[in-house]
Parts: sequence; C-alpha cells; structure tokens
Amino acid sequence: MSDITLHVTDREGVEHSILAPTDMSMNVMEVLKANDFPIQAVCGGMAMCASCQCYVLNDVISLERNPDEEAMLWEAYHVKENSRLGCQIPITEAINGLELEIAPEQ
Ligand code: FES
Repeated sequence: MSDITLHVTDREGVEHSILAPTDMSMNVMEVLKANDFPIQAVCGGMAMCASCQCYVLNDVISLERNPDEEAMLWEAYHVKENSRLGCQIPITEAINGLELEIAPEQ
C-alpha cells in the first residue's frame, strides 16, 4: 500500500478525507499543508511552534507524545488531552484511518 486515508475536521468543522503517501517520509503536518489546510508550520516541523496542533479523535495512534512534543504543548494554547503535533506523526500504514481535528490557531 502506498496511500493511506486520513479523516480531517477543519477549523470550520467541515470533515475531509484525504490521501497520504506512505513512501515519501512525510508527516501529518506536511500532508495537511500539501492539501491546503491553513497550517502555518513556522518551525518547519521541529516541534517548536505548535501551529500544527491537532486533536486525535480515534485510537489509531497513541496519545503518547515524544519529549520535544510534550515540552511544546506544555506552552501552547488550546491544548487538550488528545492533542498531538502533526509534525511529530509520521505517515505510515499503521495510521490509516486516523481521525484528526485541527486545533485553533495559536
Ligand atoms: Fe511547528 Fe509542528 S510545525 S510544531
């Protein structure tokens, strides 16, 4: 399989299903940007801006954050228990069907 499907709710509450390639070393933030979602990603995916924050809506991935991600979300706004940074979620076959909601702008 080379493409997986992500289900994304945008900041207006509209749901989208988008395809994401598993063979291009992309992460969720990059796929959202490539699909024209308004993600600033000012840090370029270094877990240093939180502008790619998403809420995880199903159990396809763990809510466990890596240390850099945890540190950034500690300082960010609108953080919930199910917050993750899109740039810290690699696109792999294991996340097929992941449901996300894009968090409000920082
Ligand atoms: Fe900056 Fe993800 S792009 S934290």
